[in-house]
Amino acid sequence: MLKNSQHSYGRLARAFHWLSALAVIAALAFIEFKGIAPKGTPLRDFMKSGHFQAGLIVLLLLLPRLLWRLGNRVPDISPAPHRHAMLLAHAAHWALYALMAALPLLGIAILQGNGKDVVLLGMTLPVIFHIDPASARDLKELHETLGNVMLWLVILHAGAAIWHHRFVKDDTLTRLTGPLR
Ligand code: HEM
Ligand code: HEM
Repeated sequence: MLKNSQHSYGRLARAFHWLSALAVIAALAFIEFKGIAPKGTPLRDFMKSGHFQAGLIVLLLLLPRLLWRLGNRVPDISPAPHRHAMLLAHAAHWALYALMAALPLLGIAILQGNGKDVVLLGMTLPVIFHIDPASARDLKELHETLGNVMLWLVILHAGAAIWHHRFVKDDTLTRLTGPLR
């Protein structure tokens, strides 16, 4: 089914979740491993542009995903977790959504503040941030800090999903994947 049901995420919500997850993981992997290539080499440039492309795809997916999310019920978890666990999970989900918007926007501002073109899938984006290089440097620090927050939040989020599946043995994860062995 395309839409979410009472007990399961629908096809579209699943596609949005796993495509965004893949793009976030790719953005993090490209930037974390860029250090293996020496400065000025084509491999390092490739890692950086891979980071930019993956990060921009996260932003591209976010608006339709949020619209679909707001018009669709969230499937129930059975057995229902404790109210405090649900509140914590919701806070983590909205923090992830906020980071999926803030990080790419900051990334665009950093590049445009340094007078560089931002290219998404071959198309140059219009200049939306008119800032000087000094402000771009400050935003780069903020972007790096928030990027590291995202890395840890994703690890906790995925860990929580696996913990629910493996130890609590509820259907938190299978609502989003379908049956697992
Ligand atoms: C890597 C980047 C990831 C991001 C940015 C991310 C983000 C999100 C967000 C925003 C939600 C809330 C969905 C909603 O509003 O209903 C969510 C739900 C969920 N995610 Fe992820 N996710 C990621 C990776 C993963 C991974 C690797 C797993 C599994 C191992 C996972 C398992 C789940 C599950 C089970 C839910 C449903 C939780 C619930 O409804 O309480 N996610 N994810
Ligand atoms: C979900 C999306 C994104 C995530 C999770 C993310 C995360 C990160 C992280 C973790 C770092 C490195 C921090 C460090 O070195 O400690 C970084 C650096 C950077 N990011 Fe992103 N980012 C995202 C999107 C973007 C986008 C869309 C752009 C530009 C269009 C961008 C531009 C940059 C730049 C210019 C740097 C500094 C690279 C350098 O050291 O030369 N980021 N990002």
